Amino acid sequence: MIKKLFRRKILHHILEEIDIEEHRLHRSLNAFDLTVLGIGAIIGVGIFVLTGTTAARFAGPGVVLSFVISGAACAFTALCYAEFAALIPVAGSAYNYAYATLGEMVAWIIGWDLILEYIVASIAVAIGWSGYFVSILNATGIHIPVWCSNPPGAAPGAIINLPAVFIVLFLTTLLVIGIKESVRFTSLMVFVKLVTVFVFIAVGIFNVKPANWVPFMPFGLKGVMTGAAIVFFAYIGFDAISTAAEETKNPQKNMPIGIILSLIICTILYLVVAALLTGMVSYRELNHPAPVAHALRLVGFRWGSALVSVGAVAGITSVLLVMLMGQPRVFFSMSRDGLLWPWISKVHPRFRTPYISQTITGIAVAGCAGFIDIGTAAELCNIGTLFAFAIVCGGIVVLRRTHPDMKRPFRCPLVPLIPLLGITFCAALMLSLPRLTWIRFVVWLIVGLFIYFFYGIRHSRMAQK
Ligand code: ALA
Repeated sequence: MIKKLFRRKILHHILEEIDIEEHRLHRSLNAFDLTVLGIGAIIGVGIFVLTGTTAARFAGPGVVLSFVISGAACAFTALCYAEFAALIPVAGSAYNYAYATLGEMVAWIIGWDLILEYIVASIAVAIGWSGYFVSILNATGIHIPVWCSNPPGAAPGAIINLPAVFIVLFLTTLLVIGIKESVRFTSLMVFVKLVTVFVFIAVGIFNVKPANWVPFMPFGLKGVMTGAAIVFFAYIGFDAISTAAEETKNPQKNMPIGIILSLIICTILYLVVAALLTGMVSYRELNHPAPVAHALRLVGFRWGSALVSVGAVAGITSVLLVMLMGQPRVFFSMSRDGLLWPWISKVHPRFRTPYISQTITGIAVAGCAGFIDIGTAAELCNIGTLFAFAIVCGGIVVLRRTHPDMKRPFRCPLVPLIPLLGITFCAALMLSLPRLTWIRFVVWLIVGLFIYFFYGIRHSRMAQK
């Protein structure tokens, strides 16, 4: 039994699999494309919504520090991701890293955990999309009634967030019939997003009133830590770059560059935007579904507000597309390894898409996006992702012991210090999340372990070797 739980994929088997795959997938992405892809997946609801709501509710202007703390957790983890992504450049990313280093059960836990990450991230992103969409409609004089544009409890009389449900179902349909987000579309979205952020910065710089930064930490250090655990959501996505490993030219060199560069660019933008947003208006004003646009309106820039709303909707749509597309890929890897039922990875005969898992994902996400608030979704997503990050950091330390002589195209510096710092930061952020989030997370893991013990352990492809 114990042996089964810790059976590992042999590293060179995985690498052989890639060699076979190589004939199928076209290696076309370079470091620049990967960075663009990364920014496309990273900048979204985190910066456009959570910066404001977190400042208002937990951290005040100290939200800037929150970004520094969660950015540090991501930086340590990114170095570990970079080592793995260069060493094992396969699509399943963290799930495969764990399978090769820590054994099948940990791989299962991480895979199951990534499912949570993608599903719940999609929910949060859809809710953020809805906030900006409603704000655009408001600006054009169309008012969607409160009852159908907010989850229960968010406003008096609110019942369902229909725009969030609608966008998920719409994108799911596109994904089922096989509209892939092309690199060109991503590049366009990244351009739109960056222009939007720069417009905000350009206006913000001339409208800061330093008095708004006082008090800097109205809710103390605890508020800043809670804030860090929430705005961590803004960084999620750099890990998704590693899933493009099989389509990358010279992944040994380009993966680390793509991962680290996109993280650096986003971190700088986040710090600047957080500082300007809380400097333009009082943090108390920012508890709004579209805080960045709202702040611009408050300081008198109606055109800026409209522009940011349109840019945010476009940019957030591309993040949602990546998240909705990522989910079936994890299902796919796991069912290919025999850990989940084979029908999950069934491909549509005409559209050539994993339509069953895509549809299940879409319905689950749409169902939840209508009824929960963005904070709850972001917190649950974060706890799952932080946990996966900590395991990836741990995996690096283990791999250095078990495979000390392997040729590592990219080496995470100062091992084990950097991975241990990564684990410590991730754990500290997890501990700053509310108890209810922990309970939900543990329930999810228990359900997963049930499935593993009743199905995966017996049907694993490793069992047949
Ligand atoms: N980092 C992504 C966002 O903020 C998930 O929307």
